[in-house]
Formats: sequence, structure tokens, C-alpha cells
Amino acid sequence: MSPIAIFSGSAHPALAEEICAKLGVPLLPTRLKRFSNDCIEVQLQANCREQDVFLIQPLSSPVQDHLVELLLMLDAARGASAARITAVIPFYAYARSDKKDAPRISIGGRLVADLLATAGADRILTMTLHSPQVHGFFSVPVDHLHALGELAQHFQRYDLANGVVVSPDLGNAKSAAAFAKRLGVPMAAGAKERLSDTEVRISMLIGDVRDRDVIVLDDEIVTGGSILELLRHLRDHKARSIRIACTHGILSGSATRRLAAEPDVLEIVCTNTVPIAAEKRVPKLTVLSIAPALAEAMRRINSGESVSALFHSDPTVQDNARPALRA
Ligand code: R5P
Repeated sequence: MSPIAIFSGSAHPALAEEICAKLGVPLLPTRLKRFSNDCIEVQLQANCREQDVFLIQPLSSPVQDHLVELLLMLDAARGASAARITAVIPFYAYARSDKKDAPRISIGGRLVADLLATAGADRILTMTLHSPQVHGFFSVPVDHLHALGELAQHFQRYDLANGVVVSPDLGNAKSAAAFAKRLGVPMAAGAKERLSDTEVRISMLIGDVRDRDVIVLDDEIVTGGSILELLRHLRDHKARSIRIACTHGILSGSATRRLAAEPDVLEIVCTNTVPIAAEKRVPKLTVLSIAPALAEAMRRINSGESVSALFHSDPTVQDNARPALRA
């Protein structure tokens, strides 16, 4: 590997530590300071000159603070003569702001992409963008990972003979189809309409879930509203059992408690693209680590190997005695 320097902002130091442990390199120190006028200052406390610099910072809550921190880290690395700077953003929060769907409305996904490049990002490493076309907002190269392998590996432990993958909306149907293919099960999808930030309506379910063991797949769970609305339809259509999977467990407010309180929800599975607070770690919640995937992508970026090749190998399941999904 060529000289590599990895720093983390304050959003998810535990993930950064895990990535560094996988790569066998130290996580270098960063000093963050907030002045009495509320401005933030960042200092990267290790040499960056001619280094391959990686700055790890998901845009988790508080998003605005974490974004500005990342911009300042990029500026600091560029000012310190880094050879190349990769912003590692496991969760790109502004991806949902991707179109002009009302008059005089901002398109945050595009603006933040511009800000990152202007601040000094030479490339972006991210995971499960809300919609794949957000990739095109960036003027610098983007390596866009997904967590379908990690999620599939988790569910392949079960007997999937009666399984079906269900997407809450049609926008996510392509990912759900890819996930269903990995698991060797059919898929179904809801026709979802967003009424407001916290309210959605699913008008119908396309596909057959009757007497089947459902695995719901979404890119992210925020309020849990989409899943709760989908549950209504799954019950109406007499699904046999229900498990929920997503990449980004944002789980704002009481989302975890509300979902876990649904008696027919057997399991909620997400990854650690954002930190999951201790109070959200209820027994029904399983958090999978995407640190190995990010570490491997960073190793490949550093050594100039293909990152897309990462997606071509699927983990195999050894165990033949698999528990039932409905258990
Ligand atoms: C939106 O279309 C996304 O794919 C998710 O379904 C959405 O962000 C989930 O948000 P919530 O949990 O608040 O319904």
C-alpha cells in the first residue's frame, strides 16, 4: 500500500477504528474545537504531505455539524498537501433531496456534492445512496458500495424456502430484486406515495405475500412510518412472518421502539453506516458491520485495484440446518 493516512470526524469514530483495525493502520488523531461564536475548527494532527488521505464521516445526526466538520477536514487535508483525499461517507444524508419536486425548492444532494468537491475531495466512497442517480451529482469519482452481500449473508442462515423480499416502494424495487435474487426468493413491492416528511401512503402491494415469510428491504429507516404502513398491507395480505432489513438504521425518535413493539415483527436488521445508540439496541435489532467492506474498498482504492470487483463474489453458506424465518 502507498502511504495512507486515515482520520475520522466526530460522527462515527467507532466505525473508523474498526476500519483501521481491519487495514492494520492507526486511526490518526483529529482535534475539533467549537468557538464561543459557534464556529468549528478542525486540525488533522498527523502528517498528510503526499499521503493517500481518507476522511471517514457519515452524515448522521446532527447532519449539519457533521457536514461542516467534514468540509473543514477536507480543507485541512488539502492545505496540508495531501496527495489524494477520499471522503468516506457511509451514509450520504442529503441523497433524498435529489429533484425539483416543488417550485423554488433546494436540491441538497447536488449542492452538498459540489461543496465536498470544492472543499477538496478528490473522490468519494459511499454506500447505498437513496437513489443510484445521486451518484451523478458528483464531479469527482464515486465508489458506491451496497450492503446487499452483508444483509444476504445474515438471512441465508434461515430456511428461505417460503421467503419473499418486499420493497416498501417502487424506487427501491431494483435493489429489492437484486436482494431477492441473492436469496433465491421472489419479490413484491408496495406502491408508496410520500405525503410529508413523516407520512406515507401505500395504495397497493404488487406481488404475492400470502402465507409467505416476508423480508422487507429498504435503503433506510428513519421514522419507521414507511414500514408501519407496509405492515398494514402485509397483514391484510396474510403474510406468515415478517422481518425487516435496511442499510441505514437512522431510526430517529421512537422508531426502534415503535417497530419493535409490533408483535409480528420478528427482527429488524440494519448496518452500522451510522452509529446506533445504546437505547436503540433492543433485542429485536441486529446491527451488521460494514467496516470490512469499507476497509477492503479503501485498500483497493489505495492500491489502484478494481472496487467494482468487490461485488462479484458472494459469501457462501456452509450450514445446511437452517432455522425457519418465522421462528
Ligand atoms: C424513501 O423513499 C426511503 O426509501 C425510505 O423508505 C424512507 O426514507 C424511510 O423513511 P421513514 O422510515 O421515515 O418512512
